[in-house]
Amino acid sequence: MASHLTPIILETIEQTGEVSSGLIRKGLAIGFVPTMGYLHEGHLSLVRAAKKDCDVVFVSIFVNPTQFAPTEDLATYPRDLDRDLKLLGSEGVDYVFFPSNDMMYPNGYKTYITVEDISGILCGKSRPTHFRGVATVVAKLMNIVNPHRMYMGEKDFQQIVVLETMIRDLNFSTRIVRCPIVREQDGLAMSSRNKYLDADQRKRALCLSESLRMAKLAYDEGEDDVQVLRERMRRHIESKGGEIDYIEMVDSNTLEPVAKISDGDRLLVAVKIGSTRLIDNIQI
Ligand code: PAJ
Repeated sequence: MASHLTPIILETIEQTGEVSSGLIRKGLAIGFVPTMGYLHEGHLSLVRAAKKDCDVVFVSIFVNPTQFAPTEDLATYPRDLDRDLKLLGSEGVDYVFFPSNDMMYPNGYKTYITVEDISGILCGKSRPTHFRGVATVVAKLMNIVNPHRMYMGEKDFQQIVVLETMIRDLNFSTRIVRCPIVREQDGLAMSSRNKYLDADQRKRALCLSESLRMAKLAYDEGEDDVQVLRERMRRHIESKGGEIDYIEMVDSNTLEPVAKISDGDRLLVAVKIGSTRLIDNIQI
């Protein structure tokens, strides 16, 4: 499909549904990248993957209130629509769905999706309502856009597993395409929340990716004991002043913790640097 200099902005659910059914009738494959905006190279890598595979690409920009707890950063979450649209235009994105809160959650809204068990572990322990909000909004977005494929970053690894489980359990026909984590040159995983870090915190934030790389290296050299690896990671993170939320080593399909790691497992960390909570992970 021809690329536009600026994507077409779809501001209503009805309009988005009509555009999407028209494209599906023509037999075109729709790729979808859901985002909360304030786009960086991580988001754009998903757009590029979608452009490569699909005939038409939709991106949504919606800072979803239901996935933030009242104490979290919904009000201060960074936003820059003009810049986002320019970036998406230069990537040749066809349509941007940019709904309002009232459109997504009108008065009287009552329905939420909970993916049991795996929403309550890892990030779900400190953010107990987060994945309920994510599952709910992504189910709504999939129903509105009707994509064949949805491109998601492994940066939010638990999010992917929660959504793949929902898709399977609720018989959605969209397939998730897992895309690798995009990092800054020094290794920090790109995130809209990196904007909150001051210069000193930005340096200390490297402890996440460094500790993951250390553990992977130790595994490659023969250490597979989770306690030993976790202890080394803990020491490194704390030496940089990071406050650990969790360090976990899990099976990458079920997110079940493992006692000894093996090829294909996933190491995940969540660490607070100052008041900013960052996550990162690595495949073994
Ligand atoms: P957001 O944080 O904006 O992320 C949108 C997509 O970009 C997610 O799939 C996320 O994993 C991916 N992403 C973010 N940083 C990345 C990086 N450094 N490398 C690769 N991919 C990266 O995740 C959300 O929004 C929301 O929860 C959402 C799914 C849109 C539901 O509201």
